[in-house]
Amino acid sequence: MLLHYPGSKFRASRDILSLAGDYSEWRDCFAGGASILWRVPRDKRRWINDLDSDVVRFHKSMRDDPEFIEKLDTLCEWARSASEAAIRREWERRKWIWRDTGCPVCMAFCRMFVVGGILLRQRANIASFNASFNNLKSKTRARMDQAREVMQGVQISEGQYYDLLDAPGDGVCCFLDPGYFFEDHYSPYYSIRFGKSHFEELADRLYSCSHHFVMTVNICGLTMRLFERSNRFKVYRRRYYYTLFKSRRRHAWEYIILPN
Ligand SMILES: C[S@@+](CC[C@H](N)C(=O)[O-])C[C@H]1O[C@@H](n2cnc3c(N)ncnc32)[C@H](O)[C@@H]1O
Repeated sequence: MLLHYPGSKFRASRDILSLAGDYSEWRDCFAGGASILWRVPRDKRRWINDLDSDVVRFHKSMRDDPEFIEKLDTLCEWARSASEAAIRREWERRKWIWRDTGCPVCMAFCRMFVVGGILLRQRANIASFNASFNNLKSKTRARMDQAREVMQGVQISEGQYYDLLDAPGDGVCCFLDPGYFFEDHYSPYYSIRFGKSHFEELADRLYSCSHHFVMTVNICGLTMRLFERSNRFKVYRRRYYYTLFKSRRRHAWEYIILPN
């Protein structure tokens, strides 16, 4: 896994893939950091998608542009031995370049590598800068080359999750990880909001989906009503633990995993 993406399912990936059954094509409808892809065999057809153009640009640059990796590696190498103050200054400088030019290296540095997920929706707000410097340790050149290799042959699209549910194909397994839903507010971690009406639409679309699918969601009143109590889906409860960026506290989330 290369991106420290909020809601990454890397730790759950073995479990999720074990529920995917026998598939010949893997489609990740809400790719984010695309962490599961690292465990999907390369001989399968693979398609990842996200509505967030930054996320898509990151993955495409990883797949197609050796210069992107070169520049990112240089930047990470520099950041590993730079002071926190220097990194903050660099982050601030690159944030504006990213905003003005869309430069993917600046985007990756600001959004994915140094800052982690906390700032996703506040990319112009230096006041809430919360650098996760530990992330840099794992951004080695070897890791980036590995990510490039994982991405080879992967179809990458910027669009709605249901484009993947609706596209025809044989032996398809769709994976859906739309992000946490909180009863009274959106998840603050993503640029793209996925709220109550979106979940309701998703439940209907899944019901009529002809492909096999696996989905992860957190348990709350809405998701229990839409999925667990509806008898339309098979529900598996799981408990995973994660640690927030700098905190030592362990948080527990229960997921419902729903293969049809
Ligand atoms: C929880 S994250 C996915 C994390 C990912 N499974 C991982 O392991 O890194 C959810 C992603 O869904 C994307 N998203 C939100 N609404 C979407 C939509 N309607 N269609 C496609 N992607 C969407 C967000 O941009 C975000 O990147």
